[in-house]
Amino acid sequence: MDLTTWATIPLLLGSIGVYSLYKLLQRLRSSAYIQHSVVVITGATSGFGKECSKLFFVAGAHLVLCGRSEERLDELVKELTRKPLKSTQVHKPHIVIFDLADVKAVSSAAKEILHLTGRVDILIHNAAVSCHGTIIDTKVSVDRIMMDTNYFGPVALTKALIPSMIKNRHGHIVTINSIQGKISIPFRSAYSASKHATQAFFDCLRAEMVPYEIDVTVISPGNIKSKVSMKKFTEDGSINGVLDKNTVEGKPPEEVAQIIFQAVGERRKEVLAAGLVPTLAVYLRTISPTIFFFIMAARAKNEQKLKNS
Ligand SMILES: NC(=O)c1ccc[n+]([C@@H]2O[C@H](COP(=O)([O-])OP(=O)(O)OC[C@H]3O[C@@H](n4cnc5c(N)ncnc54)[C@H](OP(=O)(O)O)[C@@H]3O)[C@@H](O)[C@H]2O)c1
Repeated sequence: MDLTTWATIPLLLGSIGVYSLYKLLQRLRSSAYIQHSVVVITGATSGFGKECSKLFFVAGAHLVLCGRSEERLDELVKELTRKPLKSTQVHKPHIVIFDLADVKAVSSAAKEILHLTGRVDILIHNAAVSCHGTIIDTKVSVDRIMMDTNYFGPVALTKALIPSMIKNRHGHIVTINSIQGKISIPFRSAYSASKHATQAFFDCLRAEMVPYEIDVTVISPGNIKSKVSMKKFTEDGSINGVLDKNTVEGKPPEEVAQIIFQAVGERRKEVLAAGLVPTLAVYLRTISPTIFFFIMAARAKNEQKLKNS
């Protein structure tokens, strides 16, 4: 070995050491941020919301789990509190039941949350519905369900809780959006439109909240292995009932929940949690819209052909 190689080894080991120390400090800072924080999670009954609930519970957050089914929220609380955890001080979660698509119910739920906990440190908008169908055949009522649940619900909950965050000059709003909030994929118009609207709203909010020291994080996942496609609305408003191939092949929800947990702890402004191809598509839409539109048209043609065959 020559002198240069000998000199490189300590440099390499030193860099690995500094990087590991940096990561450890980052993890400790994230844990300290989440521990004892009041964390509200919507759509905690399944998929992604459920996985996030587990992570934040173990990290010692005071959880408020939200959903439409009292029975399933109770089951989740039982599951979380079943085995005693020694390493962190954990707190029994509260549950709040409401339908996000009902603006009046959202306003009462916000009051209930503040009554239960006195404050909200981290609000995670996770609940959503999705749909699949051609624009021609999709009923306007289905477009409305998407907007009511995915857009107006989170907007109303944010507006109801933000005055208390401003008063405390402290808070963090996290939105689990979608890659479809950045690019529109054929036959998903209503879902994609609701997620684009959500992206726009929370981007404005991020800028407007800077003077109040309130953070806003938007997370845009690609396909996740969850039941979302089974519960997907079809063009006439009925429920799909089958799992999509894309969803089956998606990232496991635990993996994405871990990405969210880290992003919240690090107070990241935006995270794209998708595979290489969808990530490249986001950039292609900006750099070369003509190529992007060409690819989407080909995709629409193929999908229509498959549907007709
Ligand atoms: N799965 C994916 O491939 C994927 C990809 C990108 C982004 N995302 C986003 O990730 C988030 C979580 O999705 P997921 O895959 O975990 O879906 P999921 O398993 O279907 O969970 C959705 C959650 O939202 C709740 N919800 C739906 N409508 C509601 C309403 N009107 N009021 C209150 N709660 C309601 C559901 O409650 P019920 O159990 O009562 O229905 C459920 O807890 C969503 O925002 C979704 O758009 C998902």
